[in-house]
Amino acid sequence: MASNPRPSSDAATAEPPQAAPPRGLSALLRPTAALGLDTPVAAVADRMLDARHEGLLSLPIVHEGRPVGAISRYALMRIFLMPYGREIFGRRPIVEMANREVLVLPVATPIQDAARLIAEHVQSPITEDFILTDADGVYLGTGVVLDVLRAMDARLAQRNRELQGAYDRVRASQLQLIQSEKMASLGQMVAGLVHEINTPLGYVRNNVEMTREALADATDLVGAGEAVLGALLDGGEPPADLPARMATLAELRTRVDAAALADLSGLLDDTLHGLTQIGELIGHLKDFSRLDQARTQKADVNHLIDGALRIVQHILNRRGIEVVRAVAEAPPIDCAPAQINQVLLNLLGNAAQAIEHDRGRIIVRTQVLGERLLILVEDNGKGIAPEDIKRIFDPFFTTKPVGQGTGLGLAIAHQIVEQHGGLIRVASRPGVGTRFVVALPLGGPGTADGARA
Ligand SMILES: Nc1ncnc2c1ncn2[C@@H]1O[C@H](COP(=O)(O)OP(=O)(O)O)[C@@H](O)[C@H]1O
Ligand SMILES: [Mg+2]
Repeated sequence: MASNPRPSSDAATAEPPQAAPPRGLSALLRPTAALGLDTPVAAVADRMLDARHEGLLSLPIVHEGRPVGAISRYALMRIFLMPYGREIFGRRPIVEMANREVLVLPVATPIQDAARLIAEHVQSPITEDFILTDADGVYLGTGVVLDVLRAMDARLAQRNRELQGAYDRVRASQLQLIQSEKMASLGQMVAGLVHEINTPLGYVRNNVEMTREALADATDLVGAGEAVLGALLDGGEPPADLPARMATLAELRTRVDAAALADLSGLLDDTLHGLTQIGELIGHLKDFSRLDQARTQKADVNHLIDGALRIVQHILNRRGIEVVRAVAEAPPIDCAPAQINQVLLNLLGNAAQAIEHDRGRIIVRTQVLGERLLILVEDNGKGIAPEDIKRIFDPFFTTKPVGQGTGLGLAIAHQIVEQHGGLIRVASRPGVGTRFVVALPLGGPGTADGARA
């Protein structure tokens, strides 16, 4: 998206490189020599033919510096089309033929107001220009309706550019907000995750050390065995220290027996398991911190749920919260997995935060219903007060202390779910618990009809 070149929002004053469209009528003023009251009709007709007046529909009539009316080409044409029109009317003073109701506007009138007044005042077909005066009503020149239209169009185009710029900025900061909300909720999880990574890391290190010791013993054993074998295979007299070499060999054999070596392979299996666990955790973390917000792909929602559960698990464990996972077989759906992850993480995080007793339980279910996949997250936490429930999806609505809540989680979840063509609903009873239901169209965004119900 093109960044907006304007440094400030005070856009109305300057918009390089495009010149700002005029705000008032002065830029549209066409100085026009006015007719006097008594100018004969025939002379006016000749004046009208003058090349200087080509763009004008009418000529103004001015008396003592003030406009009194206008005469249009159209009116003159009607006179001259009459049989003997020129002979009958040619010498009459123009003021007799004039439209005295011509629209007169002070030059300081904003273009928008002028457009409105023209629309109200000028009749169809347009046969006349309007007259411009200074603030005191003194005649200045003519204004042309088409000029006003063009100026309005230019102003609208500029307004549109400004709006587009503002929209781009809002959109950019919204994306930033979404990202920082995600980072904030991840931040809360990270401490526990570090712990989760540390546990397998600890036994992986332990296992590697034990393996190294066992290997050192085995190496010694092989060395001692060779020393004995060498002496025996030498052919000559057995060396004097043979009994000593054999004693060493026997002693080493008690340390490194077949069972110990067999254990080693178990240790290595454990180690591999630990490394896999660490790898998975890091993989989940990566899923959650990814920036490719909007990429859509086929994803197994149950798998996403497991990933999200994995991330919040330590918090749940630490608080003794039981997790009941009851997922139904469901086909993979088209979605942006990173975004669905964000929704799940927030629902689970909220559920955990709502539980203030030690019999905590969170039930996560999926269910296929018609063309929808339902994800239900239910807790037996403190519930939501009836007066709050209407506001929980509002951005920045939070009942949590600073540092614990941003108030953005559900607003973002709502937006993400809607972008997926789904819905998110809540039911809650204070003191009993809360249930969120997310319904996603099985066929991806824009399929299940009534998704907007
Ligand atoms: N499972 C829930 N139980 C009770 N209250 C909830 C639950 N989920 C959300 N809420 C309420 O909705 C508010 C908004 O949630 P959210 O948008 O995620 O922001 P945050 O969690 O940062 O406060 C929370 O502050 C809380 O009052
Ligand atoms: Mg939240």
